[in-house]
Amino acid sequence: MKNGKTITGLLDFSVVAFIVLLIMMLLFWGCKHDPIMLPSKTAESNGNGNPDTSTYNASPCDPDSAYFSNEVLPLFVSNCAKSGCHDATTHAEGIILDNYNNIMSTGDIQPGNASHGKILDAITANDADDIMPPPPNNPLTTTQINMITTWINQGALNNSCDGCDTVNVTYAATIAPLLQAKCVGCHNSASAGGNINLSNYSGVQVQALNGRLMGSVKHDAGYSPMPKGGTKLPQCEIDELTLWIAAGALNN
Ligand code: HEC
Repeated sequence: MKNGKTITGLLDFSVVAFIVLLIMMLLFWGCKHDPIMLPSKTAESNGNGNPDTSTYNASPCDPDSAYFSNEVLPLFVSNCAKSGCHDATTHAEGIILDNYNNIMSTGDIQPGNASHGKILDAITANDADDIMPPPPNNPLTTTQINMITTWINQGALNNSCDGCDTVNVTYAATIAPLLQAKCVGCHNSASAGGNINLSNYSGVQVQALNGRLMGSVKHDAGYSPMPKGGTKLPQCEIDELTLWIAAGALNN
């Protein structure tokens, strides 16, 4: 009996030791693999973090594909996940549209079948009571609706691509589309956050030349960090804006 007890005691000890070892290994594994988890973490952070470098470590953009990180999420953040609407704080009707998991868990998107999810009905509704975003916000443009449709039909993936070009930077080809995707939903004539309208050249030019545009996208002290509630712009896009402004912020 005495022996039996000792063996049980030993067993207990080795079981405890094994569990402790397992926990330590898991913790260590977790730390060691942290950098690899960065993309999903960054996508879920609500701004003020580091640039989402994952976006531009991806493969080159295919013009026939739509990409979540580059196009879809910025559109949701600037048109839907605003304060008073579908941000984490307000969550109107229980819907939060600020990151991939929250957007997918609404159940309103059926990957591969845009016509069967409620999202498309909401953004294309004719009735002012039903359309999202609701008035006085501008409805999404046809190009934006087509892009979301393509993304859903291509599987509603959490994907991204590298489409950043710092060689040929112009207002029309680079800056206007960038602001359109990531800022104009909150900065247009109907809904001008901070009284700032970035939907046309003259509005953008003012903020470019007074330093607020760069101060806010670089998250410099003294400026409100932009895009509000979203992930900091990738470094390459910050570079594009810097180059364009350094060259005179021209309407080119
Ligand atoms: C979700 C809405 C939203 C998005 C998206 C957004 N903004 Fe803003 N922005 C605001 C609001 C609201 C303010 C007023 C200040 C505040 O509330 O932080 C503001 C303020 C600013 C300011 C003034 C900052 C200051 O401190 O003087 C600039 C410049 C600006 N935004 C530029 C941008 C740019 C550029 C983008 C896109 C990269 C962008 N914003 C995206 C809502 C938004």
